[in-house]
Amino acid sequence: MAQRVLITGASSGIGKAAASLFHEHGWNVAATMRNPENAGADFAQKGMIVPKLDVTQPETIASAVDETISAFGGIDVLVNNAGYALVGPFETMTPEQLERQFATNVLGLMNVTRAVLPHFRAQGAGTVINVSSVAGRVAFPFMSVYHGSKWAVEGFSESLQYELRRFNIRVKVVEPGPVKTDFYDRSLDVGADPSVTAYDALFKASEAGLRNTVDRMGALPEVTARVIYRAAVARSWRLRYPAGGGAAPILWLRRLIPERLFQTIVRMAA
Ligand SMILES: NC(=O)c1ccc[n+]([C@@H]2O[C@H](COP(=O)([O-])OP(=O)(O)OC[C@H]3O[C@@H](n4cnc5c(N)ncnc54)[C@H](OP(=O)(O)O)[C@@H]3O)[C@@H](O)[C@H]2O)c1
Repeated sequence: MAQRVLITGASSGIGKAAASLFHEHGWNVAATMRNPENAGADFAQKGMIVPKLDVTQPETIASAVDETISAFGGIDVLVNNAGYALVGPFETMTPEQLERQFATNVLGLMNVTRAVLPHFRAQGAGTVINVSSVAGRVAFPFMSVYHGSKWAVEGFSESLQYELRRFNIRVKVVEPGPVKTDFYDRSLDVGADPSVTAYDALFKASEAGLRNTVDRMGALPEVTARVIYRAAVARSWRLRYPAGGGAAPILWLRRLIPERLFQTIVRMAA
């Protein structure tokens, strides 16, 4: 029987590449997205289902999970991919921006996971793959809230793996470095309070540095999709999977050198 995967945020970037890759490997794919009417036709044409799922709207989580189970008879792998970055000086971010960042990247991911776990327990197996980031293990300036959200995903995932192992449910964290997707364009949210100008020059320089890094080192989304697929089919209990864009070397360096030295390097580079 074909394996079954539900992916969040499949309309573009990493989620879209992952949906295509699982489909190519013969899986039944639920390529969920906020607006299936915009991006869903291509997926449906290829034989995937395209349930509406906004991770901040619990009723769409429930209906997407139900629709997937009705169509495929169950779910074997959940890929929590939906997410975006709020960047800028922390002082310029509005409370609504902070809430939306955590509602999407953290609570959304948790709520989709909670909706799927009863099915995994009932079938005696399942894999949750959380798309975190190198930004979930190290931190750079002007991404404080995005880092906070991805560090939360890391801590959540690391704890959850212990709880779920006895039920034969695997938890995996995929940690991409920079990936060339809509993440740095239409999906990006920037601190919105124009009255705080003290950071303007610093932020501008830092943003230019980030864009330069993405241009130089950014991987294609297909690279991350391949790592997600590898995590999905692995029978091991390995938790973390760095994924392209220089992710492995940065994480290796972070482990190798003392924290204060690492922070000095970041401060000098930023
Ligand atoms: N690109 C990178 O450099 C990079 C690096 C490390 C980690 N990541 C992580 O990779 C994941 C995917 O990002 P990407 O690079 O593929 O960017 P992307 O092309 O902008 O894709 C983001 C996806 O998330 C969806 N999304 C946003 N809010 C949502 C919500 N409330 N409910 C459901 N879907 C929602 C978007 O849907 P819409 O089309 O409706 O907006 C889109 O499908 C994110 O979790 C991101 O943090 C990215």
